[in-house]
Amino acid sequence: MTGCTIIEAGRTEARELYKVMIGLIGPRPIGWISTISQSGIHNLAPFSFFNMLSMNPCLIGFCPSLKQDPSKKDSLRNVEETKCFVHNVVTSDLIIPMHQSSANYDFETNEFEKVGLTAALSRFVEAPRVAEAAVNIECKLMDIVSLGTKAGNTQLVVGEVLAIHINREGILDDKSHVNAPALALVGRLGRLNYCEQGRIFELPPAEV
Ligand SMILES: Cc1cc2nc3c(=O)[nH]c(=O)nc-3n(C[C@H](O)[C@H](O)[C@H](O)COP(=O)(O)O)c2cc1C
Repeated sequence: MTGCTIIEAGRTEARELYKVMIGLIGPRPIGWISTISQSGIHNLAPFSFFNMLSMNPCLIGFCPSLKQDPSKKDSLRNVEETKCFVHNVVTSDLIIPMHQSSANYDFETNEFEKVGLTAALSRFVEAPRVAEAAVNIECKLMDIVSLGTKAGNTQLVVGEVLAIHINREGILDDKSHVNAPALALVGRLGRLNYCEQGRIFELPPAEV
């Protein structure tokens, strides 16, 4: 394609717009969200519409969309029922189970068992942690903001961070800086693409 293309959102199918946007907004961090139902079933699923939302209070959020029926995904149902979730940081060694946990398992299925991971107890919340993850972040539900009630519409789930578990040596130094190469974060791009950490560089703070 030559020249300039302008995509007008109002004249574009939602699906087409989505495909373009997920290729342009990235790499996106992947929220790997573990939850528990009221009846005690463990659930695990990745969400790349995910980010840190606020520093103080310390908030993170993820965005499950409504299904085609338009019922709620299991993660959203669980968070509504038990008011908590855990984000398990996705690193290069866990790409395969993270991806497998996105399969559309029944509500009754324990997804930790399905993908071969171990559920560890959390300190403050009922939701389990992925024991194999380098880092787990425990959150209590702060708010669910509905961005629509039709199929595909997003529900923004906001959680307040209660505890951060650093499970491996060499990730955090004594000045609370994270060692990025040691952590090896994974990001989500468009299509079926992911990225692993590439070149890391430093810049001093900008001055006027
Ligand atoms: C890397 C990755 C990122 C995803 N991001 C989202 C997302 O942001 N929102 C969403 O609704 N689904 C997302 N999905 C799909 C969900 O993981 C999938 O629907 C999953 O089955 C939901 O699980 P649950 O029903 O147990 O909550 C993503 C899948 C993958 C592999």
